[in-house]
Amino acid sequence: MLIGDIAVNSRLALAPMAGVSDASFRAICREYGAGLTFTEMVSAKALVCGDGKTRSLLYLSPDEHPSGVQIFGSDADCMARAAELALSVSGGDFIDINMGCPVGKIVRSGDGCALMRDPEAAYRIIKAVADAILRPVTVKIRKGWDRGCANAVEFALMAQDAGAAAVAVHGRTRAQMYSGAADWNIIREVKKALTIPVIANGDVFTAGDAARILRYTGADMAMIGRGAFGNPWIFRDANAALDGGEQPKQPSLSEKLSVAVRQFESAVALKGERVACLEARRYYSWYLRGVRRSSSLRERITKISSTRDIHSITEEISLGNC
Ligand SMILES: Cc1cc2nc3c(=O)[nH]c(=O)nc-3n(C[C@H](O)[C@H](O)[C@H](O)COP(=O)(O)O)c2cc1C
Repeated sequence: MLIGDIAVNSRLALAPMAGVSDASFRAICREYGAGLTFTEMVSAKALVCGDGKTRSLLYLSPDEHPSGVQIFGSDADCMARAAELALSVSGGDFIDINMGCPVGKIVRSGDGCALMRDPEAAYRIIKAVADAILRPVTVKIRKGWDRGCANAVEFALMAQDAGAAAVAVHGRTRAQMYSGAADWNIIREVKKALTIPVIANGDVFTAGDAARILRYTGADMAMIGRGAFGNPWIFRDANAALDGGEQPKQPSLSEKLSVAVRQFESAVALKGERVACLEARRYYSWYLRGVRRSSSLRERITKISSTRDIHSITEEISLGNC
């Protein structure tokens, strides 16, 4: 599949997820078969103002290609400048514009999914970004704002007219946030209407779901978000399902632990021990789902504050379960 002139040799993408899909986790997901990754969303305004933390979110490892750099904002000029900057800072392959974020403080500023209620402003933004950079532009949207404004099809057609090279659709409205089921029918409708590639997103939690969403919607790629939490193996399994091969053996406890520790060590190298520990408090227990005795360690996991803590918790789990 081509996104503009960029070849993507996979039907599986890791969703952009603020606070989750950092460079360390993305590298692990790619190792297990994610063929396309995106940075966490960054504010165009903050980037243009030179904010250091925002720039650091744009870090891509040298072999992380193809990859999209996601920006959000609602001022067309600022978005155009941010897109140029984001590509030069990151070395990413294309810009992805976030028009799906449902979070209150984002939509109150007119950014993210709020743009689905203002297609003209959205058109100006996409066009301004497409005109400003020599690389492709993609747009990530939702089903719509709410039940009364489920305009994904018209909105995606507008994005295509404005110069988007692909559209990713999360089949929930902003009003649904993350509740209820994702509507795969609307993704199918978007796919039927567009000539550019469509990426289907929402509720892919197993390898079978990945195969089903692609078959049902006819989309070019499936994008996996929460299904990858503590489970980068979902990409390996989904690739096997798509190839019609046998399902690989599920990872052993020691494999899960070693990947969790590797993710942590990579984060220490990129962000320092303090930040890496704070983040590990959240994701480490995701690797332990279904592991006996792990609930008794949950409290300790929420207090991880050093590399030593990670190693001692990991050792205790290994000894208790092997
Ligand atoms: C913790 C979290 C952070 C997210 N951050 C972003 C983001 O930065 N940009 C974005 O476009 N979507 C973001 N999303 C939405 C996901 O990309 C995806 O659309 C959504 O989770 C639905 O896919 P899923 O059912 O596979 O999880 C986020 C979702 C979660 C759960």
